[in-house]
Amino acid sequence: MKNSQRVSDFPRSGIRKMSALALSIDDVISLCIGEPDLATPVHIVEAGIKALRDGLTHYAPSGGLWELREAIANRYQKDFGLDYGPENVIVTTGTTQGLFHSFLGVLNPGDEVIISNPYYPNYLGQFHLAGAKVVTVPVREEDGFRLQAEDLEKAVTPKTKAVLINSPNNPTGAVLEKEDLFKLAEVIKKHDLIVISDEVYDSIIYDDRTYCSIAQIPGMKDRVIIHNGFSKTYAMTGWRLGYIVAPSIYVEQSIYLQESLISCTPTFPQKAAAAALEGPQDCVAEMLNIYSRRRTIVIDGLNDIPGVSCYPTAGAFYAFPNIKSFGKSSEEFAVDLLKKGKVATVPGSYFGANGEGYLRLSFAASDEDLREGLHRFRKYVLENYGSR
Ligand SMILES: Cc1ncc(COP(=O)(O)O)c(C=O)c1O
Repeated sequence: MKNSQRVSDFPRSGIRKMSALALSIDDVISLCIGEPDLATPVHIVEAGIKALRDGLTHYAPSGGLWELREAIANRYQKDFGLDYGPENVIVTTGTTQGLFHSFLGVLNPGDEVIISNPYYPNYLGQFHLAGAKVVTVPVREEDGFRLQAEDLEKAVTPKTKAVLINSPNNPTGAVLEKEDLFKLAEVIKKHDLIVISDEVYDSIIYDDRTYCSIAQIPGMKDRVIIHNGFSKTYAMTGWRLGYIVAPSIYVEQSIYLQESLISCTPTFPQKAAAAALEGPQDCVAEMLNIYSRRRTIVIDGLNDIPGVSCYPTAGAFYAFPNIKSFGKSSEEFAVDLLKKGKVATVPGSYFGANGEGYLRLSFAASDEDLREGLHRFRKYVLENYGSR
C-alpha cells in the first residue's frame, strides 16, 4: 500500500501531537483544545430531535435547506446591515469544510494566498490540497497581533490571488478593528484580491467591542467570502455545521463542488441550526459571560506567574502568553511544563514561526480546571526558574 504524494506530504497539526502526549501522562490538566466545554442549548437540541422524528433523515439540497439559508442571510442583514439573501449562502459541514470549499473554489494551483503568522494550522493542509502557495505575514504583540496593512502590502506579488483573514483570531485572540479593516481594504482593492474571511469566533468578543466584518467596509462585499459556523457560538462542534456567505455568482458556480465533495450537509442538524438562529439569543450572551469570566481568571493568573506576560485577549477563547524570558523554545518549555507541571498547553511555534516564544492556552475549560492549571503552571515556574 503506497499513499499518494498528496497524503505523504500532508502537513500535520502539532496541536494533536500535544494532546496525544498529554493523554499519555496521568492527571494532566489539558488546556490544548479549542472546543467549548458547554452544552448545546436545549431548544437547539430539541429542534434537532424533532427533525429526526419528523423524518428529516434523507439528503438535503446541496446548498442547504432553503429555510436555513434564509435564516443565515437574515442574520447578516440584522446584525451587520449586509444585504444578503439565501442565494448568497451555502450550508457546509462545519466551517472547516466551508473553508476547503472556498480554497478549491478560488485558488488555482500555484496561486499565492496570504495569511497572518501565527495562524490556525488546519489551513495549511487545505491549502496544500488546493495546490496553493502560502505566503505568511508576521503579526506582532506590540500591535495586539493585528494584521497591519503595510505588512500585507509587502507580501503581495503578481501571483497573489487571495488573503485569508481570521478575526477574532486563533491562536492570538486578536480582533481587527474597523480602522485596521479600512486600511487592509485599501491594499486589497488596489491589488484586486479576494478575501477569504474566517469569522467563526465573531460572537465571542470582549470588553463591549462590536464585531465588524471586512464585508462591511465600503466596496468590499463583492470580493469577500465569509466563513462562519455554529461550533463556537452555540457550542455545537459535534453537529458539524457551518456556512459560506458570498456574492451569488460565487455561490451559483461553486455549489456544484459541494455536491461532489459531500453531497450535502446532514439534514436534521440544519433544522437545529435554523432554531439556533431564529430562537432566543440569551444563550449566546450567557456563554459569552462565562468565557469573559474565564478570560479574567486566565489573563490575571498568567500575569501573576513570574516571567510570563499576557496581553488581554480581545476575542475567541485563547490566551497567548509571552514566555520568551525563560530562554527556551516554546516546544521545549511546553513539553517540560507538561511532564513536570502536568499542564498541557500548545507551543506557539506550532502556529507558525511567529508564534515562537508564546504558548496557547484555551479557556474553553471549566473554572476549576483553569484555576488548577494556572496554579500548577505557577508552581512549575517557581520550582524550575525561581521567583526571578
Ligand atoms: C479559526 C478557526 N476556523 C475554523 C475552525 C473550525 O470550525 P468548525 O468546527 O466550524 O469546523 C476552528 C476550530 O477550532 C478555528 O479555530
